[in-house]
Amino acid sequence: MNFDQIAPRWGTDSVKYDLCLRQGFAPDVLPLWVADMDFPAPDCVREALQKMVDFNVYGYSMAGEGYYRAVIDWFTRRHGWTPERKWIVTTPGVIYALCTAVRAFTAPGDAVAVMTPVYHHFFTPVTDNGRRLVQYDLRLTDGGYEIDFDALERALDREKPKMLILCSPHNPVGRVWSEAELRRLGGLCFERGVLVAADEIHCDFVYPGRTFVPFLSLGEEFAQNAFSCTAPSKTFNLAGLEDSNIIIPNPELRRAFRAEMTGQGISEAALPGRVSCQAAYEGGAEWLDALLVYLRGNYDAAAEFLARRLPQLRLCPLEGTYLAWIDARGLGLDAAALERFMREKANVRFNPGAEYGAAGAGFLRLNLATSRATVLAALERFAVAVEENL
Ligand SMILES: Cc1ncc(COP(=O)(O)O)c(C=O)c1O
Repeated sequence: MNFDQIAPRWGTDSVKYDLCLRQGFAPDVLPLWVADMDFPAPDCVREALQKMVDFNVYGYSMAGEGYYRAVIDWFTRRHGWTPERKWIVTTPGVIYALCTAVRAFTAPGDAVAVMTPVYHHFFTPVTDNGRRLVQYDLRLTDGGYEIDFDALERALDREKPKMLILCSPHNPVGRVWSEAELRRLGGLCFERGVLVAADEIHCDFVYPGRTFVPFLSLGEEFAQNAFSCTAPSKTFNLAGLEDSNIIIPNPELRRAFRAEMTGQGISEAALPGRVSCQAAYEGGAEWLDALLVYLRGNYDAAAEFLARRLPQLRLCPLEGTYLAWIDARGLGLDAAALERFMREKANVRFNPGAEYGAAGAGFLRLNLATSRATVLAALERFAVAVEENL
């Protein structure tokens, strides 16, 4: 496992790389945006997919006992929580699942809440399905982001959402919510009949000192009034294979969710995604442990660089995810100017924070899941552009 060696992704129809060119970036741009990794998947994934390809029969197939066992064992071993087999619904992705949930569990015109700044693909499942998006802003303090529970309570009472989409760990601000925070959030929601959609896709990226707490593990009330979206795609860099596991303990919610899926003609995730998921969960733990050490090293290197070269930028603490969140308001650029500056002056592609809601304006999200040399080269370009232009 040599994470200093990244895959050559240009010209592979990669969104992270090749789409930059359509967006007007120069051909040698350093792309540290879309949340996938530049590392090849673990060997166990290649071997399982190779076996599938060697067999070369791709008829209709279904998730088998081995698949469910791998998912259940992963959560048991890594997170100390054992979902039941019948709770697991496979889908071709988490955003697909959120769209399905919005349609299954809310009605047109209903409000759905999110905690901003947050992963921007939480917005369209709500708005494109004719529901009303309610953005509640997290509070930024000197120590990082927190939930202002009084403000949240007021927002829930005022807007009366039917569902709240929770990002846990939180992309992009890097928080791993504590058990106390999750319990309080759940309490406020359940008292008001607000269903919690816990997107836990980043749960395997948690750094020393923090523990990921599965929302559904907190007790029966949590399990019955929520569902969890999980996937091997972030953890093992399998996003293009489109497999995720939606965990829905409440049988009525599960029935409604499945009915919405079959109404769209989809019964479950496809074969290559399931093969890769099972292989990764069965054999990828050691690879992931090494990756977590490397990613933490990338964060520390970025922190050291920023403190030395760009002290006007403020890096938020990274408890979870591989996405660094940087307060760049010290540059004095508005959201549009910051985006232009990246493209026209720095020749790096980070995500402009405004994508994640108005609360993210002036911030940058930087994807650390590449080689350390690439992280430092991108920051160097950014620093030089600041020195020369601002
Ligand atoms: C919080 C979160 N949810 C979902 C996704 C995407 O999931 P999928 O590719 O399974 O739709 C991402 C990808 O960045 C994410 O950060």
